Amino acid sequence: MRNTHQLREMKEKQEKIAMITSYDYPSAKMAEEAKADMILVGDSLGMTVLGYDSTIPVTLQDMIHHGKAVTRGAPNTFKVVDMPFMTYHISLEDSLRNARELFQETGAQALKVEGSGEVLLTIEHLVSAGIPVVGHIGLTPQSVHVLGGYKVQGKSEESAERLIEEALQIEAAGAMAVVLECVPRQLAELISSELSIPTIGIGAGASCDGQVLVYHDILKYGVDRLPKFVKSYFDSNQQLGEAVASYVKEVKSGQFPEEKHTFTMDTDALPKR
Ligand code: KIV
Ligand code: NA
Repeated sequence: MRNTHQLREMKEKQEKIAMITSYDYPSAKMAEEAKADMILVGDSLGMTVLGYDSTIPVTLQDMIHHGKAVTRGAPNTFKVVDMPFMTYHISLEDSLRNARELFQETGAQALKVEGSGEVLLTIEHLVSAGIPVVGHIGLTPQSVHVLGGYKVQGKSEESAERLIEEALQIEAAGAMAVVLECVPRQLAELISSELSIPTIGIGAGASCDGQVLVYHDILKYGVDRLPKFVKSYFDSNQQLGEAVASYVKEVKSGQFPEEKHTFTMDTDALPKR
């Protein structure tokens, strides 16, 4: 398993960090077998596996439930779990209590929080309590209604300046890495060179120290509209869709089950009726 120190060393050696989301036992097992450096139990599970239209309805209990399954599937991979909407904003005390529960119950190696500002103090306290923290700036989906939609962040000089400042503050607060979501590649490159902690990009270009994508997106699994920054390596909707349709069709036509799928017995033992 990677550790925070090694991940920072990977940045120094310019070795790319490969991160992928997982939400359950099989996806975690697959990520571990693929030798991903890090797994993110993202609150994107609200959309990918729970069918909500944003990450806002996701609860701490949802994250614990899925995080535990991921740990069972990938016991030897560095796992980061998202703190969901409003579980780290009410008070510092409430944030620490939620973080403790999420961290201990899931057995993750780090937690991720979106944004800066007030959140910086929470990052400091979590780190000093022994919980590694990953920051997340740029497009922060938990603030989608404040941002006014899912769009690229930091395109103007003023907003680019703000993002650089936020990244530096997150590093200063003690975070071990920062996710940059949907920012122009030039800005992501600049931030990556200013920071000594790794940047993990999603829609942030090739100069980030690592990349993260959503499992369901790279497999086109249950998602129909993919953002520009996603590369799909498989079409599950089509391939798995065809397989499931074949099963249904074969049951209806009597083609399944065949003899080889069935059990048999000595017919003498069959009660006479
Ligand atoms: O929840 C998630 O999947 C994320 C990544 C997109 C960074 O936060
Ligand atoms: Na997330």
